[in-house]
Amino acid sequence: MLKTKEILDEKDKRLREVSKEVVFPLSKEDKELIKKMITYLTDSQIEEKAEKYDLRPGMGLAAVQLGVLKRYFVVVHEREEGVFDNYILINPKIVSNSEEQIYVELGEGCLSVNREVEGIVPRYARVTVEAYDENGQKIRVRGREELAIAFQHEIDHLNGILFTDHIDKENPFAGENLYRAI
Ligand code: CO
Repeated sequence: MLKTKEILDEKDKRLREVSKEVVFPLSKEDKELIKKMITYLTDSQIEEKAEKYDLRPGMGLAAVQLGVLKRYFVVVHEREEGVFDNYILINPKIVSNSEEQIYVELGEGCLSVNREVEGIVPRYARVTVEAYDENGQKIRVRGREELAIAFQHEIDHLNGILFTDHIDKENPFAGENLYRAI
């Protein structure tokens, strides 16, 4: 079982590296890591389990956050109360996006950033991502609202970018009126 302390902290330089494309077939280690990531993210969003196992609530993890510099991530999205959709996206690319941009009003979060960070992180409201699944099959996934944000946040990780990089340091709420708050 994945432990919270195994997730790299923002100070770790590996989080600043560009992860490498995955070559199929997926290794046994990668398959196991993906399972652990799904379990962590799902349990972290279920209050009793999060408390019991000391998990920080989160909906996404990129492999690099566990020290594996490969281009894949997992998002576990609670579509409705208690119903979770798992997204395992390997070698992902955004192939189209909305003009509209949004931001998380309460501030974006990240399992590697252990502090409250205020400010606006503009993201596309809708994105289409092309990627590969665990079997190396090409897939195309659409996300809107918080799911779209999660995809963009995780793809950033694969390029060594953290959400805090997008925030204007001088004026964290710059452009507030240009984007829609969710
Ligand atoms: Co993150």
